[in-house]
Amino acid sequence: MDHTNNITKAVQNLYNTYPFPPEPLTDGTPPGYNWRWSVPAAHHFALGWVPAQWSELHILDAGCGTGVGTDYLAHLNPTAQVTGIDLSDAALGIAQERVARSGVGQRVEFRQLNLTDVQQLDKQFEYINCVGVLHHLPDPKAGLRALAGVLAPGGLMHVFVYAQWGRWEIRLMQKAIRLLQPAGDYRAGVTLGRQLFAHLPADNRLVRRERERWALDNVQDATFADMYVHPQEIDYTVQTLFDLIADSGLEFLGFSNPRYWQLERLLAPLPEWLETARKLPIQQQYELMEALDPELTHFEFFLGRPPLTRHDWSNPTLLRQARPLRSPCMMGWPGRSLLDYDYQPVDLTPVQEQILAQSTGAVTVNDLLAQNPEATPAQVLDLQQRQLLWLQIKSKQI
Ligand SMILES: C[S@@+](CC[C@H](N)C(=O)[O-])C[C@H]1O[C@@H](n2cnc3c(N)ncnc32)[C@H](O)[C@@H]1O
Repeated sequence: MDHTNNITKAVQNLYNTYPFPPEPLTDGTPPGYNWRWSVPAAHHFALGWVPAQWSELHILDAGCGTGVGTDYLAHLNPTAQVTGIDLSDAALGIAQERVARSGVGQRVEFRQLNLTDVQQLDKQFEYINCVGVLHHLPDPKAGLRALAGVLAPGGLMHVFVYAQWGRWEIRLMQKAIRLLQPAGDYRAGVTLGRQLFAHLPADNRLVRRERERWALDNVQDATFADMYVHPQEIDYTVQTLFDLIADSGLEFLGFSNPRYWQLERLLAPLPEWLETARKLPIQQQYELMEALDPELTHFEFFLGRPPLTRHDWSNPTLLRQARPLRSPCMMGWPGRSLLDYDYQPVDLTPVQEQILAQSTGAVTVNDLLAQNPEATPAQVLDLQQRQLLWLQIKSKQI
């Protein structure tokens, strides 16, 4: 117990010294979007449909830090009540000011709370965001179990944890700093780390990796400290990640950076091996990609608490009853050249543009097809799979 408390105290001290993330405070709505913080966008991505309305939407930002994500969660979900919890009172003070200045303070509540004690909130949440936190706990499994305990049935969780193979240079520098630095003096640790990077040989592996991959992120001391001077970090492989998930009792609903997890990215020039790989169980497919592309520095993914409903859109009757709704997570609309939910460029055909124009949630797919003789169910489904429009079920609520 003492060991656990000591780790928690050390983590709290780090983030009281260097609240994270060190984003400046600004007035008004934050710029752009991150679709992972839009609950309908996340729900549609994970389960392939959205409810016509959420009867109630309570969102928890677990380990909210200085509230950058919390602020987006409130803005991208205008009817939601948002709760942010964190160990660091310094970070929470900044978070509070951030949401007040951005105009959503009324709908956001912050509490200083260890996420393993989250049941003390005495609430359930339809959406939980937990980014960059579980890997800093002494027992991440206990943390995820605690969060699972306050996730509403049918609710979703978005999680981000570090991956082992792309961070081994970081882990070695952390170790070096820990060996030299007076324990717990994080500012001295940052000074030492910066000196080491400045004076080790330029072709040293750790120096090269910092220069090529991380230096831009690490201009500020808070990000440097979060990376190299951390008192507690547990990194994951695909195998240990799925052990963590299995322990939580939640269902894995897919990675939220799907472009990384495409076998074609690595095996397209080897079609026979690509076919062989496709026949592997899904976890082994992930392990293969992890083995072939060790740049992987984190895992980000959705979990859901059963019962979770999915719809078979290949059933034409069902598809025709749904109401298409254009995703707000896009840039350049109205227009034919867009950036999609993931800020990837998309060029629409005139028919696709027409379908999106009518995807306001007011008409069914059936009505839309009747009004556009050139539009087909396959085109609607293609736009749906690319997350440009969502399929809404009128009668359902989660
Ligand atoms: C790397 S920061 C991430 C902040 C924020 N989620 C983001 O992505 O911008 C990690 C945060 O988790 C908090 N934290 C770490 N362990 C925690 C725990 N056991 N309970 C609550 N918060 C914790 C830290 O205080 C810190 O603010």
